[in-house]
Amino acid sequence: MNGAIRDHILKSRYLQPGEKSFSDICSRVASAIGKDEAEREQFLHMMEDLLFLPNSPALMNAGTRNPQLSACFVIPVGPTIPEIFRALREGAIIQVNDGGTGYSFSEIPPCGTPIKEGGGISPGPVRIMEIFDTATRVIREGGRRRGANMGVLDIAHPDILSFITAKKEEGVLENFNISVMIPDRYMQALTEGSHDEILTIHPISGEVISVREVFSAIVEGIHRNGEPGVLFADTINAANPTPALGSMRATNPCGEEPLLPYESCILGSINLPLFLQNQSVAWDKLDEITRLAVRFLDNAIDQTTHPLPEIAEATRRTRKIGLGVMGLHDTLLLAGIPYDSEEARTFAEEVMGFITATAIDESKCCAAELGVFPAWEGSIWHEPIRNAALTTIAPTGTISLIAGVSPGIEPVYSFVSIRRHTAGREFEMIHPVFKRALDEEIARCGYTESAAEVKRREVIDHIRATGTLRNIDWLHHSFRRLYRSAGDISPDDHLRMQAAFQRHTHAAIAKTINLRSDTIMDEITHAIISAWTLGLKGVTCYRIGSRRDTVYRPHGCS
Ligand code: GDP
Ligand code: 5AD
Repeated sequence: MNGAIRDHILKSRYLQPGEKSFSDICSRVASAIGKDEAEREQFLHMMEDLLFLPNSPALMNAGTRNPQLSACFVIPVGPTIPEIFRALREGAIIQVNDGGTGYSFSEIPPCGTPIKEGGGISPGPVRIMEIFDTATRVIREGGRRRGANMGVLDIAHPDILSFITAKKEEGVLENFNISVMIPDRYMQALTEGSHDEILTIHPISGEVISVREVFSAIVEGIHRNGEPGVLFADTINAANPTPALGSMRATNPCGEEPLLPYESCILGSINLPLFLQNQSVAWDKLDEITRLAVRFLDNAIDQTTHPLPEIAEATRRTRKIGLGVMGLHDTLLLAGIPYDSEEARTFAEEVMGFITATAIDESKCCAAELGVFPAWEGSIWHEPIRNAALTTIAPTGTISLIAGVSPGIEPVYSFVSIRRHTAGREFEMIHPVFKRALDEEIARCGYTESAAEVKRREVIDHIRATGTLRNIDWLHHSFRRLYRSAGDISPDDHLRMQAAFQRHTHAAIAKTINLRSDTIMDEITHAIISAWTLGLKGVTCYRIGSRRDTVYRPHGCS
């Protein structure tokens, strides 16, 4: 079944004319990115064996006439009409080149106020976002995949309430994820309960907006349909590796890459389950692939066609790469460790700590050979290093399907899922590790063959109907404990796993905190405060059942 999904994805978007198989794709990509024969061979095997995959644009475009390899971009939006439409033009160019774009709309003057330079009255950030959204929709009609945008607004912008509620109706701004950028002082006020202070007064309507009101609107929005996301401005900028170059005010569409204006980043993910041998991590193999992956992503910065000169300049100046992992939950299941356990978090810290330390070491080796990143002086790095930032955790929405593993560091959404194909056919997908374990569990119970089949069906139908197996009493409690899916795991445990990774990750983490459908507002406030206290750079929540589309899929991404 996994093979069928992979073939479908590859055929629809990744195969170039003349290519027939995944191996053909790997050969094209390895030949384009490797500097010599030996490196090309190593890159080829690492991808063919699914040990590491680069982000989709690299798989689709490397070795073609337009090798745009990067998934992540941040474009600045200035306060005047020409600057706003310049950003629109730049975003359009990136989107036809398969990139995802993030913007801070915070500099756009509040709705109804005069635009100082160049004249005119400001329509405000939300109306401007509608133009960007339409442009994305129109561009998509001619392209291979839909565009994806992140729209960020600072909490103190006078239009903040209309921004937070902009996606109230489903279908509006459908090509945007939206996030509010919050500095520490407002989080402190929220934590201390002293958030009745005035945040801003709208210059036209005269509306007085308190910190409390804005947090209520954020929490209501999350409860309603999972948006807005929240970004923590000071945590993000405390980790800025090149503070002399400016501050980070926006991220790419799924939130894992806070970037400076015009920076871009090529991502790649290590397929963790393949590094498990006899229930423990094959550290030598992980060391080898981490180093190769760093070389791959660093080479790619020089192989990619940067869609704009400003992007070429900003990206080459810091040479950030985005190495991460996928298949965390599958790995934990294979090792018999429940996702929501201290043991899982210790495992996560060990693995990500190792990857980041190894990646840093390899980047230092690269610097000795090829030189430091141009903005190294004045950066946070004391020793020569080739890349200003190395690690991130991407959602891996598509590449995890190609690899046939659980996405990024997310828990499995459901051990049984249904895929509907355009021809109307339905496929029942049973998670492969779970399927094997269920058969063993049923065998352990000693059922006859025909009774076993009935029992198997019972479990699968129950999961299809409820999304969980926690109420099936005859399954051993340790089996039910291990096979918890996203909705069974408490928000605190989701957050703790994100924090375990964040402690060892340079950029940020794409992760959804799943909330039960009966979650109340106070629990959402609590989750936002915990996320901040735990040192996360941002948080995205989703209350189960609060959108029509409940299957895991990167928001705003096809
Ligand atoms: P994958 O490499 O396709 O598996 O991509 P991920 O799900 O890991 O997403 C990584 C980043 O790629 C996102 O944060 C976006 O910046 C970008 N991205 C993902 N999906 C899409 C898409 O459908 N369209 C566009 N334009 N960008 C996307
Ligand atoms: N802010 C940040 N990330 C978001 N995602 C979705 N919406 C937002 C948002 N508003 C990310 C989730 C998930 C991926 C599918 O997209 O974190 O990892």
